[in-house]
Amino acid sequence: MAASSPISNTVYVGPFVHSESLSTLEIQERGAIFVDSDGIIRHVEKDIQEGDLPNLIQQKGDSWTDAKIVEITGTGFFFPGFIDTHVHAPQHPNTGLFGKTTLLDWLQKYTFPMESSFSKLPLAHRVYQNFVSRTLSHGTTTAAYYATIHVPATNALADICLARGQRALVGRVCMNSDLSPEYYRDSSTETSYADSKASIDYIRSIDPKGEIVKPIITPRFAPSCTPDCLNAMGRLAKETDTHVQTHISENKGEIELVKELFPDSKSYADVYDTHGLLTDKTILAHAVHLTPEERKLVLQRKSKISHCPASNTAITSGCAPIRDLLDEGHTIGLGTDVSGGNSPSVLENVRQAIWVSRHLCLQTSKDKAKLSTEEALFLATRGGAAVVGMQDKVGGFEVGMEWDAQMISLGVVGEDGCRDGAFKEGPVDVFGWESWSDLVEKWVYSGDDRNTVAVWVKGRLVHRTGRFSGAERVATP
Ligand code: GUN
Ligand code: ZN
Repeated sequence: MAASSPISNTVYVGPFVHSESLSTLEIQERGAIFVDSDGIIRHVEKDIQEGDLPNLIQQKGDSWTDAKIVEITGTGFFFPGFIDTHVHAPQHPNTGLFGKTTLLDWLQKYTFPMESSFSKLPLAHRVYQNFVSRTLSHGTTTAAYYATIHVPATNALADICLARGQRALVGRVCMNSDLSPEYYRDSSTETSYADSKASIDYIRSIDPKGEIVKPIITPRFAPSCTPDCLNAMGRLAKETDTHVQTHISENKGEIELVKELFPDSKSYADVYDTHGLLTDKTILAHAVHLTPEERKLVLQRKSKISHCPASNTAITSGCAPIRDLLDEGHTIGLGTDVSGGNSPSVLENVRQAIWVSRHLCLQTSKDKAKLSTEEALFLATRGGAAVVGMQDKVGGFEVGMEWDAQMISLGVVGEDGCRDGAFKEGPVDVFGWESWSDLVEKWVYSGDDRNTVAVWVKGRLVHRTGRFSGAERVATP
């Protein structure tokens, strides 16, 4: 669906759920959120009663009297859009393929061959159109994307995100060392710089205010880049005041390789720091095995962390110590890391973050490592927003923020044990006796994209299933 249709003032009515803090969710059983035609939340009314709405609308003034009303009348709720802080769009055709590999052989066997094929623009278009649809259908309203080394294909990904209305940071992958095969690497530091700059300039030309798409400098990871090239990327980040994303300390073999390749550096984090790449706009994916000194350095530089639990399990990287990192004050979001990760769903990674934290408890006998449902949902929304530098815009439902939201619907089981005919899709069965926090937990632990019936970015409807007509007063299940 193109995101170009004009939007009108809209009042979203029904239950809404969002993070109040790391450990608490606010669950409003019936609220009204007034969103203007720029997609900005202008008023939030809580605890409204049946019949209150006409008066509330009138009180807000003339501009709201003709507002469209989107109402949840069944079992469901509005939830902030998910933020995927680390994902490789060109790896999507490989989703689910990793066998018994770990990072370094996985890159050679699956990843580089697939990514290199993005020199063919029609193929890039096909995969990127499909992947943006896929992530939107899972409620991902913002994504920090790695593309490939190819400028035309990277720019095409930015075009597609802009046209479809998905917020995105889009990065041309920079890699010039001989870790990568000759058929898939930048030919020199000069071309790395020039191509990355060309893609930054293009992305800024199609969305000058960066309202939907922004560029992000993307040195793949230290072993993929020569010291010269890392320096050039650090310089480019400074000259253009651009976000940076890379991988850090994901896998033990990778850490050993970094020690060999950068013998004068104090640590993996120090490699990035000494090349000007640890900034307050840097997103570091994985951070599974950082030392206490590296953690201090990352914190000092105000760089952010993307936790990729499904990927860390799938390619056997390890269990990131998220509780400790949170306690130290790190800013953390969730990343699907497709296709190291086997799912494009942030909801799935909410669950995986919780499972991994429980495995850490089992390994360390420290119950404290366990993440709660509330904490994992915070990472998926407010935490992710802070990682991509959008914490004042998205991740929650406050006045002044933008309407990036998903409508969640849960299936109700009738007296005869059957599911409501029109809305029978989706794995969550609701019997009617559940509390509101039970409903949220049932969604988190057993829901999937079938429960995401509509998705908005900046007030624009960017995805809907047949169960959401987009009409006024939609009776959602
Ligand atoms: N390290 C360098 N490149 C990659 C990648 O594509 N995926 C993951 N998970 N780690 C990496
Ligand atoms: Zn990755």
